[in-house]
Amino acid sequence: MKPDTISNDCQLNSSGKLIHLLGLKDLPKKHLENILDSADGLLSKNGNLKKSKALKGMSVANLFFEPSTRTRNTFEIAAKRSSANTINVDLENSATRKNETLMDTMQTLKAMQIDMFIIRHKKNGLPHHVAANIEGVAIINAGDGINAHPTQALLDMLTIRQYKQSFENLSVAIVGDVRHSRVARSGIHALKTLGTKDIRLIAPAYLLYKETTSPDLERFDNLQKGLEGVDIIMSLRLQKERMVAAEIPNEKNYFENYGITNETLKLAKPDAIVMHPGPVNRGIEVDSSVADGPQSVILKQVTNGIAVRMAAMEVLAGAL
Ligand code: CP
Repeated sequence: MKPDTISNDCQLNSSGKLIHLLGLKDLPKKHLENILDSADGLLSKNGNLKKSKALKGMSVANLFFEPSTRTRNTFEIAAKRSSANTINVDLENSATRKNETLMDTMQTLKAMQIDMFIIRHKKNGLPHHVAANIEGVAIINAGDGINAHPTQALLDMLTIRQYKQSFENLSVAIVGDVRHSRVARSGIHALKTLGTKDIRLIAPAYLLYKETTSPDLERFDNLQKGLEGVDIIMSLRLQKERMVAAEIPNEKNYFENYGITNETLKLAKPDAIVMHPGPVNRGIEVDSSVADGPQSVILKQVTNGIAVRMAAMEVLAGAL
């Protein structure tokens, strides 16, 4: 399925309550801000995470059909900090390997009294299909193909909110493999909902969307021009696993043209922040001196991921 054709309608019930978190396209601003505000409430003034009893007695299952370090572990930590029981379903040794359908596996896990499923899958729209075909549980999309990664975008928005006064006047540069990025797609939806107008996509043409996708966004194939005066630099990972061999760029050339270095960083505003969803390919997308430098908020994003995921699960639990 093409990302543009995937609907998030079933994440709201007939009363407009959020019952699943599948994507940020068409998600009303009040729901997005509610999760950000709840996440804020789970952070103390010094940025440490609080604990909560909101998910006490509930069970959360992680179903990751693709590799993950940040998302899977922060969901597990978040569920535990909110007092839920958690299981990481061992997909290598599950009955899906014996040809059980995914829906049968899900119904079986539901019969084990699982309340919430966190799903990552390479197929666009897979969590949406599950959500539309199962009742009484909440589904959170932890990344589906190139389509959406809503909790990543929410943790990115929480991080921006901590450093910048408002979304309306921000200039945001999204740099790198935009075409294959579910992070960029969800981030663009979130930024637009929160009022950001100056969103720039910076990449070689073959890593950008086709002209018909997001024609309202400014595109740059020149990094220097695109970074001029921006407040936020969001660098993206080169997602080679989603490219055909001919599309994979030469890494040295790519870094020379699109790598974020101390030199290129000077083109942005002096108080610009550098973000990256991870995993970072140092010396390809971002120079180590920038990734570890004073303007980098990459590790802050990871910690914020726990607060946002606690908040998302707690909001959904309130509707179960
Ligand atoms: N940002 C992100 O999704 O990272 P992981 O693949 O490590 O979960």
